[in-house]
Amino acid sequence: MPSAESHPPLRVALLGCGVVGTQVARLLTQQADDLASRVGARLELVGIAVRDASAPRDPVVDRSLLTEDAEGLVRRADIVVEVMGGIEPARGLLLQAIEARAAVVTANKALLAEDGPTLYKAADDAGVDIYFEAAVAGAIPIVRPVRESLAGDHVRRVLGIVNGTTNYVLDQMTTTGADLADAVREAQDLGFAEADPTADVEGYDAAAKAAILASLAFHVRVSIDDVAREGIMAVTADDVAWAAHTGHVIKLLAIAELRDADRGTGRGAGVSVRVHPALLPTTHPLANVRGSFNAVFVEAESAGELMFYGRGAGGAPTASAVLGDVVSAARHRVLGGKGPQESTYADLAILPASAAVTRYQVRLDVDDRPGVLAQVAQALAAHGVSIEAVRQPSAPEAVAAEGMQTPAAGAAQLVITTHAAPESALAATVEAVAALDPVRTITSVLRVEGA
Ligand code: NDP
Ligand code: HSE
Repeated sequence: MPSAESHPPLRVALLGCGVVGTQVARLLTQQADDLASRVGARLELVGIAVRDASAPRDPVVDRSLLTEDAEGLVRRADIVVEVMGGIEPARGLLLQAIEARAAVVTANKALLAEDGPTLYKAADDAGVDIYFEAAVAGAIPIVRPVRESLAGDHVRRVLGIVNGTTNYVLDQMTTTGADLADAVREAQDLGFAEADPTADVEGYDAAAKAAILASLAFHVRVSIDDVAREGIMAVTADDVAWAAHTGHVIKLLAIAELRDADRGTGRGAGVSVRVHPALLPTTHPLANVRGSFNAVFVEAESAGELMFYGRGAGGAPTASAVLGDVVSAARHRVLGGKGPQESTYADLAILPASAAVTRYQVRLDVDDRPGVLAQVAQALAAHGVSIEAVRQPSAPEAVAAEGMQTPAAGAAQLVITTHAAPESALAATVEAVAALDPVRTITSVLRVEGA
């Protein structure tokens, strides 16, 4: 490694000075000497683009670096760090940077999940690095392990809690009985919710990360539009209480899995990518991921099961991942070489949501009389959905004591867990069960993962 003095400083442009950008600016300044030693050149922060340069800032930010002229700033950089978010102007600025042969680092999962291939191709054509470790699960090194460390293996499945806000909300609902809206507000105050928390609670943020992870894990192009998505807004306090009663927790999961060809249905091999709330047994490692923490569970053919855990959001944790990328890109500037390119060689279909195969827990209120269970079981069997277990919970007073709603007089509650079944079969089954005369309401249908 050459000494930092023997190489001219590398000019770093920072686009954005919000939750993440402020911490990137702080680390670039406070750790300047260490970074110089690790890179072999000093990293000089040459400007910070913001929307409003006159707005109050954290005192760690050198106000003389602030500018509202992001395009002008990009023209004077060797490395452009984009932490402004959104699609435009972020995409245009990154393309401008790449065209000018600057390396780029971004935390912008929304942009990558929508139009990553345009950026990857531009970077490839220009022979520059594009790094995005912070775009998935904040501080957790997961992009690099999947893209590089597991490049010699075959990943079969990725199961992740990749949105801190929703994990915080579900955890608060589970442990304190908090209301969903209050917990979302707390997450915003703590700095991990997106500016518009709809992106979190409706699952868009997790879907963007799922698309990025699936693309890397399976060497195919997956965009956010390919991801079957369901957020947490329909999860009720009753669902949370029932989950606990049956030995589960509810988590918003991002799932990307390889499905082999199915001779029976003639369906070819493909990749299923989805985001939805799911029941996880309390014994599963992901069940113990609390608060705003994230974790990604990877199953690979040779490596077996791997779990990556840590802070998935917040200014300093995310800035740590950004800085790691800046160091990698900067080292390439000093020593030569280039980071990995997008890999899309795999001939795999992206399967529709209806092809996802999972287990389900269905709760329903039915007339409490003989023969009803048999009718319900018959409706499931008619659609090829096999029952794993049926419970009829105990006395109403015991149910109420655990915070769960009790059925009306003359009704009984059934909790049915199925064996794995395709989403399409389950949807048709639920419709058929709901239409049965003795069925009063389907209280909830939740997927069960991780058993
Ligand atoms: P913030 O909203 O806190 O900050 C955004 C920054 O970008 C602000 O400084 C804003 O300027 C600036 N900005 C926005 N639009 C423009 C524009 N058109 N021109 C110039 N500057 C602009 O966002 P975060 O720091 O939370 O997130 C940044 C990125 O990092 C996003 O892509 C996000 O998804 C990603 N990310 C965030 C994490 C987190 O925990 N917050 C975790 C992982 C990734 P001004 O200050 O003047 O308004
Ligand atoms: N809003 C996101 C979260 C930030 O809650 O996880 C990290 O991408």
